[in-house]
Amino acid sequence: MNRKVTKAIFPVAGMGTRFLPATKSVPKEILTLVDKPLIQYAIDEAREAGITEFIFVTSRGKGALEDYFDHSPQLESELRNRGKTDLLDIVKGTNMDSGAIAYIRQHKALGLGHAVLCAQRLIGDEPFAVILPDDVIAAEKPCLKQMVDAYQETGGSMVAAMEVPREKAHAYGILDVDQQFGNLMPVRGMIEKPAQGTEPSNLAVIHRYILTPEIFKHLSRQKFGAGGEIQLTDAIAKEIELGRAVNGLRFEGQRFDCGSKAGFLKATISFALARDDLRDELLGYLHEFVSIDKAAQ
Ligand code: UTP
Repeated sequence: MNRKVTKAIFPVAGMGTRFLPATKSVPKEILTLVDKPLIQYAIDEAREAGITEFIFVTSRGKGALEDYFDHSPQLESELRNRGKTDLLDIVKGTNMDSGAIAYIRQHKALGLGHAVLCAQRLIGDEPFAVILPDDVIAAEKPCLKQMVDAYQETGGSMVAAMEVPREKAHAYGILDVDQQFGNLMPVRGMIEKPAQGTEPSNLAVIHRYILTPEIFKHLSRQKFGAGGEIQLTDAIAKEIELGRAVNGLRFEGQRFDCGSKAGFLKATISFALARDDLRDELLGYLHEFVSIDKAAQ
């Protein structure tokens, strides 16, 4: 099969209840780390990996997401007139070409696997990527690019993997792998949210995938799994059962779970500290804050 990956699915149909009340009117994916929405980090990562077609699986109330990717001629001309060329470049960098972006509705939140299934007709017969904007990964070489490069050698399907503490494994999809293979390893099995103590390893799936269209067959036949949802992990596990190659790539980089409040705050601090215009002031504040806190104890 062709190993060129040019399409990516972004499942963004969830309600984002952990960020209520903000998500009552603002999609979670528009929330910003410093000044850039989560979705822009995901799009930038996909572009750097060679993705040219962007498929969003959305739901009611996600209109702001569609507006975000529209061109904004009035804003652009205002910035041009005021000579704000830096800001103009930033705004232009968020524009998407007509036809490069598609929106599909998931009418009922039946799970991540179901969201991916909704995009079936737009994928056709080629491998594709899936990116969840909740997982933001800071890396010198973007995570999806690391995967696409490894995929040129391996083919099959691929999932991004990261070590997690054993006591937290029950919150993730966990890989059954032989870790002697190093960073790129064949996957023997996968289990979504294993009961404590039953996890086959401490390697968790992080939400970056390269999949083949065969996955849609499993998703369309699949029963509801963990949490009463149609799980993508179960469909990938089915591929493995059928003897198809699925590889795990332990990527290089730091992953932030921006679907949780603590993860979102950690990412905000980390991304702000990486910026020249914010670092000194923020670091000064953090030092001051920590010393006041210590003195109070
Ligand atoms: P989450 O489990 O984090 O759910 O979904 P959520 O609704 O976004 O957030 P909380 O838990 O209520 O705070 C993980 C990802 O899968 C997508 C979500 O949009 C999110 O990107 N998803 C989940 C769908 O697109 N459809 C679904 O049916 C479920």
